[in-house]
Amino acid sequence: MDNLIDGKLIAATLQTETEREVQELLAQGILPSVAFVRVGEDPASKVYVGMKEKTAAKLGIQSRLYILPEDTSERALLDLINDLNNDPSLHGILVQAPLPSHIRQAKIFETVSPSKDVDGFHPINVGKLMLGDNDGFVPCTPGGIHELIKRYKIETRGAHVVILGRGNIVGKPMASILVQKAPYADATVTVCHSHTRNIGELCRSADILIAALGVPEFVKADMVKPNAIVFDVGVNRIADPSSPKGSRLVGDVDFKAVQPIAGKITPNPGGVGPMTIAILMKNTVRAARMAAGSVSKQDKTH
Ligand code: GUN
Repeated sequence: MDNLIDGKLIAATLQTETEREVQELLAQGILPSVAFVRVGEDPASKVYVGMKEKTAAKLGIQSRLYILPEDTSERALLDLINDLNNDPSLHGILVQAPLPSHIRQAKIFETVSPSKDVDGFHPINVGKLMLGDNDGFVPCTPGGIHELIKRYKIETRGAHVVILGRGNIVGKPMASILVQKAPYADATVTVCHSHTRNIGELCRSADILIAALGVPEFVKADMVKPNAIVFDVGVNRIADPSSPKGSRLVGDVDFKAVQPIAGKITPNPGGVGPMTIAILMKNTVRAARMAAGSVSKQDKTH
């Protein structure tokens, strides 16, 4: 059944476009450069940062990895970020979340220079997104889903979009994008969370359902309207004695049960994940062009 939204394929197309832009910048003597900052040894964060490094290298983007120990003070992390902010040869800064609990995540994100904030987490970029000002950086996962919506020409105007999850990384910025008065937006957006009543009923009324709540296989077949478009953002590790590792990764959607009902659905892995990284690379190159003073209107994010 081919109703899959092929994030891998679209991410590869985006990467080819970004690679071309890197070549153009190199020809002007500019090497796009991004710093990845990881605090502690969270296994998932190690994997994510590793994938980001690998993709950057493939596209000709320079990346620098900073690994700080779990017990790093907030002050030390802020000092590093300030140094990176002041380094003119560096265009993008990404501090991998989650951070240890003794570090205030919001304080860290608001210290990254807005012009190097390729994650789109700085309050100025969050505010610009909310205001519909497309000068800022858009967070990578919602940006990636929006790109899939555009490239698959999914009609969002007047559609009911239900977002499961109200996090700052996916749920809230996703709502900000899709509620805007704009093509491939103009949606009626409902954001659901742990206190939402009648969540099943709300999901069943969705033309587009975006699951980003971090609960393994939360979305079941009876929560999906026939022909709805389903995006699965979840990456959850669950115990599975029959798998070699003793555990395996599942999404927030019960894919097997939901695929036959959905109009289109993202596989997981291979759907939203590759898009997140592709948008990060696109944001980095845009930051480099902005630093060089060569960003035109068409480069804007959404
Ligand atoms: N942790 C989970 N998703 C993300 C992301 O998009 N950026 C960062 N920095 N950390 C994350």
